[in-house]
Amino acid sequence: MSDYIYSIDAKEVNKTFKKKLKETIALKNFNIQIKKGSIHGLLGPNGAGKSTFINILGGLVKKDKGNIKICGLDIDTETKKSKFKIGIVPQELNIDPFFTPYELLELQAGLYGIKKNNRKTLEIINNVGLTDQKDSYARTLSGGMRRRLLIGKALVHDPDMLILDEPTAGVDINLRKSLWEYIKKINKLGTTVCLTTHYLEEAEQLCEYITILNDGEIIANDTKNNLLNTISTKKVSFFLEKHLAIPKSLQKFECSINEKILTILYDKNKINLNKIITILNEENIKFTEINTYESKLEDTFIKLTNLKENYD
Ligand SMILES: Nc1ncnc2c1ncn2[C@@H]1O[C@H](COP(=O)(O)OP(=O)(O)OP(=O)(O)O)[C@@H](O)[C@H]1O
Ligand SMILES: [Mg+2]
Repeated sequence: MSDYIYSIDAKEVNKTFKKKLKETIALKNFNIQIKKGSIHGLLGPNGAGKSTFINILGGLVKKDKGNIKICGLDIDTETKKSKFKIGIVPQELNIDPFFTPYELLELQAGLYGIKKNNRKTLEIINNVGLTDQKDSYARTLSGGMRRRLLIGKALVHDPDMLILDEPTAGVDINLRKSLWEYIKKINKLGTTVCLTTHYLEEAEQLCEYITILNDGEIIANDTKNNLLNTISTKKVSFFLEKHLAIPKSLQKFECSINEKILTILYDKNKINLNKIITILNEENIKFTEINTYESKLEDTFIKLTNLKENYD
């Protein structure tokens, strides 16, 4: 097989769900290129179309239109080969409760036709941190353990790419962080990763590239850093030596003073922090501490999707 640059190369993908009289457009002229070796985030509000795309990749949903290549293989003409290239961790925790992690991974390896000698069941169980639970029924595993088991299940055939649909939904913060480390480790070892998440901090921590979808359409597709830069409002606060009224020269900014903390919002494209400090110095305003706040992916996301409510 020829070498490829994109682990996923999807062009003009369309999908409409039709049920009786109701039609739902889940994906509309959806294009995405996921670079080999990267960690790529797919973000968007509920119902944006993220799982639909992942399910199309996994062969669970049939697209109406468009072309998709997985690791250079067309999913329509090289269906089986292309499926072997990816491991998908689904959004739903669909694990047969009466199998143990060991049995489940063995079963999965069997489904992929991996010979007993070539299986890595114990190694994978160890990597996802389920060694102590390897012989316990899946129904006795916690939600976080089930998620890790599903990650293990997606890795049995050593895929070139791991696709995770909300890998840490409902997972506590410690486990989430350990899953992040694990995902980073897998990626460093050469596996391309695509994940969807509603935790914007997760995307910020993990993803180099981000695609934001809304109502089945792409509204942003860029590096994380470029997306963070689209928010030009920055915040700085100064801990003042003594309380004072806001001087006239600062009134062109959005300023507030609260308990000796002067907070200024400014447009980084129009003025830099140095200039603000110069103004304070000219006004002879003394301060003991400065705190600056970086823009967050959440700000970009809310701006782009027009979601007013707190998003998490
Ligand atoms: N099997 C289906 N039958 C009918 N409509 C569906 C089906 N699957 C998804 N949809 C609809 O398609 C749209 C996209 O759904 P999808 O599950 O892809 O969203 P999502 O971005 O994964 O959302 P979430 O963040 O809630 O997981 C939604 O309007 C959803 O109701
Ligand atoms: Mg989904």
